[in-house]
Amino acid sequence: MAKKRLVVLTGAGISAESGFSTFRDNNGYWDKYDPEDVASIRGWERDRQYVLDFYNGVREQLRDASPNRGHMLIASLEKDYDVDVITQNVDNLHERAGSTRVLHLHGEVTKVRPEKGAYDRDFSVSEVFDIGYERVDVGDLAPNGTQLRPHIVWFGEAVPNIEKAMDIVMKADIFLIVGTSLSVYPAAGLYRYVRDGVPIYVIDPKDVNLRDKRVVHIREKAGVGMEKFIKILENSR
Ligand code: OAD
Repeated sequence: MAKKRLVVLTGAGISAESGFSTFRDNNGYWDKYDPEDVASIRGWERDRQYVLDFYNGVREQLRDASPNRGHMLIASLEKDYDVDVITQNVDNLHERAGSTRVLHLHGEVTKVRPEKGAYDRDFSVSEVFDIGYERVDVGDLAPNGTQLRPHIVWFGEAVPNIEKAMDIVMKADIFLIVGTSLSVYPAAGLYRYVRDGVPIYVIDPKDVNLRDKRVVHIREKAGVGMEKFIKILENSR
């Protein structure tokens, strides 16, 4: 029998138990930094080194971090389910936990691209470089001679992978949302593409911005929440 399709949408909360801040909780990134300074094209044009240093710091933290139980359990579900992970996170912890199909909506912190290049007009152009955990500074240039910038989707920029994400969500037999407040569109609207009759689970210690009568809310952190979710799946098979 074909495996059921499980689609998992994740946000910063899935990486919290790996030591990363979320964005909107107390002491989150947006308490310490103004998103306008580090996640907008205006901030970039104002002070490139400040922006590069912010992402240099995230890359350094990521090098020393490990996937947590939540990431591992999502990866383990590939044994019994056809799993797609759609993540708003720019870290690579899903991949390092063993998930094989991961779509990044907001870019990847381990990648860079030219600040001015063909990618600006055509997202399929392969101008994106994997730099792993290396730092990038003002003066580090792409082969086309322009400054390297983080391969991150900043506020006000298009989300190149959103259509792929919609197609994936439309095919879900089970939809799971982990660790996102659902405050940022278009990612926050993806659940609207879930077909009728498909169950929606949310794992988050707090309320999230989603009103749908299908939602089963598991009010836990990602690790324990994933254990409970897997028990629910086992009991419903
Ligand atoms: P938020 O900070 O908005 O939401 C994080 C969610 O994780 C909240 O609902 C928390 O309750 C929950 N949470 C906290 N600890 C958790 C844990 N241990 N386990 C499970 N859940 C936990 O972060 P996102 O929704 O991911 O974009 O934010 C979306 C986007 O806004 C980000 O991708 C980022 C940001 O601006 C860019 O920077 C482009």
